[in-house]
Amino acid sequence: MVAPGKGILAADESSTTIKKRFDAIGVESTPESRRDYRELLFRTKAAMQQHISAVILYDETIRQQAADATPLIKLIEQSGAIPGIKVDIGAKPLPGFPGETITEGLDGLAARLKEYYRLGARFAKWRAVIEIGAGIPTRAAIAANAQALARYAAHCQAADIVPIVEPEVLMDGDHSLERCYEVTEAVLKAVFAELYEMRVMLEGIVLKPNMVVSGMKAAEQASPGEVAAASVRLFKNCVPEAVPGIAFLSGGQSDIAATANLDAVNRLGPLPWPITFSYGRALQAAPQKAWAGKPGNGAAAQAAFSHRARMNGLAALGQWSEALEKAAA
Ligand code: 13P
Repeated sequence: MVAPGKGILAADESSTTIKKRFDAIGVESTPESRRDYRELLFRTKAAMQQHISAVILYDETIRQQAADATPLIKLIEQSGAIPGIKVDIGAKPLPGFPGETITEGLDGLAARLKEYYRLGARFAKWRAVIEIGAGIPTRAAIAANAQALARYAAHCQAADIVPIVEPEVLMDGDHSLERCYEVTEAVLKAVFAELYEMRVMLEGIVLKPNMVVSGMKAAEQASPGEVAAASVRLFKNCVPEAVPGIAFLSGGQSDIAATANLDAVNRLGPLPWPITFSYGRALQAAPQKAWAGKPGNGAAAQAAFSHRARMNGLAALGQWSEALEKAAA
C-alpha cells in the first residue's frame, strides 16, 4: 500500500458524494454511470500498474461488474493493486455538540468485514471528521472519534484486514497553519492512545492524516515548504515509528497543491515512514472533467488520470517538479 513511487486511489465516494461530483460535470448518477466511470479508471493500465498500490471502494462498487461482466474487483487485482473497502457509514451529528460529528458504523462491523474479505477486500478505511471553528473541536468529540477509530481498527485486524486509520481535520475555515497543527496534534495523540488501549498492532495499520495547512479561507496561505516542515514535525511528535506508512488525504486541496505539498514533505527525507498519497479528489477531478460522461472521452480521461497518478507517484519520492508537470501537460 505504501510501495515506493505508488499511492492509494480513494474511489470510495458514497452514492451521495459521487452524485455531487457527477452533478459538477453534468452526468446523471446511476449505478451504470458510476460503474462506467470507475471501470474506466481501473482499466487505466499506465496509472494502475505503475503508480497505484491500492484502491478504496464503496459497497456498491465492490459488488459491481464491468460491461464485459468481469468483476471490477478483478480489474483492480489484475493491475497488481490491492482492493479495499470503506466501512464507516458516515459522520453523523454528535448530540449535545453543535457543529461536531461522530462517525458511525461499528454495529455489525465484524460480520460485514467477514463478507468484504470473502469479496476480496484486504484493507479497509474509516474516516473520522474533526472541524475547526469557534469553540470546536471539543475534547469530547475528539475522544469519541478516536475511540471509534480504534475499535474499528481492532475489528479489522481480527478479520485479517489492514485498517486505514483516517482522522481528518478539515481544511474548511479561515484558521491559521498553527491552529491546524495544534488541533491535528491533539487528534493524533488521542488516536494513538486509543489504538494502544484497544490493542491494535501499529505494525498493521496505515495512517491517513490531513496535512498541516492553512484554512481554505485564511488570507495567508502557507507555502509547500511550510506545510511540509509543519507536517513532518507534527508526525515526528505523534506517530510511532512502528507505523509502516502514512498516506495523506487531499481534503479539497487543488490538484497541484496536493502534489507540490506531498513532494515537499518527501524532500525533507529520509523520514521514519514512507509518506505517500491516498487521494480522492486530487486524483479524480481531472479525469472526471475530461470524461464528462461521454464514452468518446474515455482515452482523454485515462490520460488525465495517468498524468495525476504519475505526478503524485513522483511526489511520493520527492522527485516531482513544476517543470515536469508542464512538460507532460
Ligand atoms: P480526498 O483526497 O478527496 O480528501 O478523499 C480522500 C478520502 O478518502 C477521504 O476519506
